[in-house]
Amino acid sequence: MSKKLVINPKLYDILDNAPEEEVSRQEYFIEKLREEVEEREKRLGRKLKCMVNTFGCQMNARDSEKILGVLEKAGYEEAEDEKHADFVIYNTCTVRENANNKVYGRLGYLGSLKRKNPDMIIALCGCMMQEEHVREKIKETYRFVDLVFGTHNIFKFAELVVNAVYTNKQVMEVWDSTDKIVEELPIVRKYSFKSGINIMFGCNNFCSYCIVPYVRGRERSRKPEDIINEIKTLVEDGVTEIMLLGQNVNSYGKELETPMTFAELLSKITEIDGLKRIRFMTSHPKDLSDELIEVMASSDKICKHLHLPVQSGSTEILRVMNRKYTKEQYLALVDKIRARIPDISLTTDIIVGFPGETEEDFEETIDLVKKVRYDSIFTFIYSKRTGTPAAKMENQVPEDVVSARFDRLLDVVQKISNENMEKLTGFTVEVLVEDVNSQLEGYVTGRLENNAIVHFKGDKSLIGKYINVTLDECKGFYFIGTAKA
Ligand code: SAH
Ligand code: SF4
Ligand code: F3S
Repeated sequence: MSKKLVINPKLYDILDNAPEEEVSRQEYFIEKLREEVEEREKRLGRKLKCMVNTFGCQMNARDSEKILGVLEKAGYEEAEDEKHADFVIYNTCTVRENANNKVYGRLGYLGSLKRKNPDMIIALCGCMMQEEHVREKIKETYRFVDLVFGTHNIFKFAELVVNAVYTNKQVMEVWDSTDKIVEELPIVRKYSFKSGINIMFGCNNFCSYCIVPYVRGRERSRKPEDIINEIKTLVEDGVTEIMLLGQNVNSYGKELETPMTFAELLSKITEIDGLKRIRFMTSHPKDLSDELIEVMASSDKICKHLHLPVQSGSTEILRVMNRKYTKEQYLALVDKIRARIPDISLTTDIIVGFPGETEEDFEETIDLVKKVRYDSIFTFIYSKRTGTPAAKMENQVPEDVVSARFDRLLDVVQKISNENMEKLTGFTVEVLVEDVNSQLEGYVTGRLENNAIVHFKGDKSLIGKYINVTLDECKGFYFIGTAKA
């Protein structure tokens, strides 16, 4: 049975008076939301709370900081859990099926919370919402969801929430694409001392298994001056480590009015005073230039860590994946990087069980892993994504074969990364302290330049500081250490 649409007349008034220009428009809607939040707080006699739940990659994490920025500016405080929240938003990921299932799994629970607290607002955004079949399912099965939007109109978040607050029906607005990059909206950073920074959005590569280009749209680079100004402001605010974000940072700047390479951008960023560590993600091997290797080699600020997803060690599988390099080219690239930056830490992503992967193809992957000897690897079981070319391929690999291969790969990966990490034992390295350790009482956790972590004795006054730590004991993917006096 469909609900009768009720629109609060206040909404017409709000919409009529909204400015056109995008940044002032969104500021205006944040203000309107703040007024509504204040009214509700008066009625309830308590503060309103919100919960932003993030799935997926660093891009989504950064988007969630923008969402929280808007909500806090509108007066919401962060809730400890969903049970105590008046506004819950899930920023979703759809790169693999299990990411989707997690969201559906939790939605049922959110529905039960909303029955107890009818004022609760539930919103969904992010990559999953860009898929039509997902939106259909939400319309049919999860009608209690108040607001649905996608990756392209996230900058309209405040406006969309106001629309949802003053209507009793599900507000669903998802755009297919955008050429807009809206700057200068509020952001709440998770860490005071480090931050992600988008340098580009979208992806043009269309790897045959991957849904990202369909849900994030075509490549759009931010202007270098906007990126640099953002970083300068962050540094003034106490940030010393940044992570430049893009699905394929190596193709940064190609479509700018005045084109610029990623290496050029990086080089400019190293000149910013007060910045200590620069990281970036992700590099596509096909676009990694000699110029970039040079810039990395010549700056102490750029972390000697490169995440270089290979996906498979079989040239034939790489061809069908549309990765545009062969096993040999990848290995040659690794040699070239190591020749110039010998102590570089390499990490990668691998997909097991891509359609048509034979035992021989898989052996090629194992062989490549043994040759490169990565410090760590994210291993994924191939997941069929509707709408991608690989989903239509007939030679899908049976589940039991895939899972046996996955386990075999994991054994090799773990052995190598343990051996690599073990080699660092006994050394004293500089780490950036990120947090107090929630499991080990009286310990803090710091991150090494190579992205590994170490737990050592200390208290929260160390958070955000760079400390020299001796790596006493290797525990697989982390260390136990002692701060050097
Ligand atoms: N832009 C990055 C990766 C983005 S997605 C790059 O090109 O390297 C992160 C990782 O998820 C990918 O590197 C890939 O290993 C994995 N992945 C993407 N689609 C997948 C799928 N359909 N099944 C399993 N893993 C997938
Ligand atoms: Fe997906 Fe390939 Fe783009 Fe990475 S480069 S986001 S794997 S299509
Ligand atoms: Fe997932 Fe979207 Fe990132 S699909 S991996 S959250 S770009």
